[in-house]
Amino acid sequence: MVHIRSTIFGALALASWAAANVIPNPPNLVVKRADTWGGSVSLGPTKSTIVKAVTTIIPGPAPPTQNGVLFLWPGMSNGTGDLIQATLESWPSNSWCGAAAGQWCVRASVFGWFGQLDGSSAPVSGSDQVRIEYALQSDQNTWLQTVTNAVTGAVLSTYSSASGPYMRGYGTGTECNDNCSGTIAAQSYINTVITLASADTTFGGTIAVAGGATYSGLTSSEGGKVWSISSINIPAMTSAPQQTTTTKTTTTSSRAATTTTSKATTTSTTTKTTTKASTTSSGSCSAAQYAQCGGSGFSGCTVCASPYTCKYQNDWYSQCL
Ligand SMILES: *[C@@H]1O[C@H](CO)[C@@H](O)[C@H](O)[C@H]1NC(C)=O
Ligand SMILES: *[C@@H]1O[C@H](CO)[C@@H](O)[C@H](O)[C@H]1NC(C)=O
Repeated sequence: MVHIRSTIFGALALASWAAANVIPNPPNLVVKRADTWGGSVSLGPTKSTIVKAVTTIIPGPAPPTQNGVLFLWPGMSNGTGDLIQATLESWPSNSWCGAAAGQWCVRASVFGWFGQLDGSSAPVSGSDQVRIEYALQSDQNTWLQTVTNAVTGAVLSTYSSASGPYMRGYGTGTECNDNCSGTIAAQSYINTVITLASADTTFGGTIAVAGGATYSGLTSSEGGKVWSISSINIPAMTSAPQQTTTTKTTTTSSRAATTTTSKATTTSTTTKTTTKASTTSSGSCSAAQYAQCGGSGFSGCTVCASPYTCKYQNDWYSQCL
């Protein structure tokens, strides 16, 4: 199943997804507008690879009514491969998963060159503790996502994908599409534990926060192989969706090349690698105003139509503005 959040990471602008795909239910939104983002906390890239990542999100109530589409997710990728992203979703109606007004729909999901693929969905209330586990299986290629109610143990959604052994970054996303009603409550992520294939003492230093997000209790064990964050807090968006304040101009390069951008954190200046796939130098493409032009998993056009330029919003998303 393909639906609109795929536009963010991936590859195609909203309008082209809407035109090219049957979006059964949830509803098809065809008006293209700027996407906005809430706060986030992210780590990576690690010099090692991630083999397991677990967190528990307490999402707070979903907006009682919804204009656009709002997504909350912890995401994991390496910048060019698949984006593993179990997602809590708020659509104008969430009845497609059995949710009432004020509840979220959750589903395990992966985004890649193939589009967006989802597991089954289930309703989630604002005070629920939703445990989201991503685990590399023994074949060293398959990722199993398991979404459960952390209190009852009930399984809410699962999904398996052949997303490969080279996951290097992990972070939260609060993503507001199509003039969505922003979050009305803070979200917290507790007991986040990221396990690496081998020790990487520098991984903690890559942590980056944006949009007023905070974290506490970043610790490591096993010499830097296991990293824990006891609490992450993402503030509510104010009444109207807020445009992300950081704007960073990225330079373009050839397909699958990487560009490195600097990012200041509260503790130090770290570098994070963002990857952009493009057909740029040929000049054979042109992305419209508000179209996505970069970000993890993105393989579309990175050249913006004049007079727009490709502005970095976060590791998952650059946009023609
Ligand atoms: C990202 O993952 C894909 C799929 O496993 C792999 O082909 C690619 O080489 C990886 N890239 C990096 C930078 O690790
Ligand atoms: C966005 O939604 C609000 C209602 O929440 C509406 O008043 C406003 O006109 C919308 N903006 C655009 C650009 O559609």
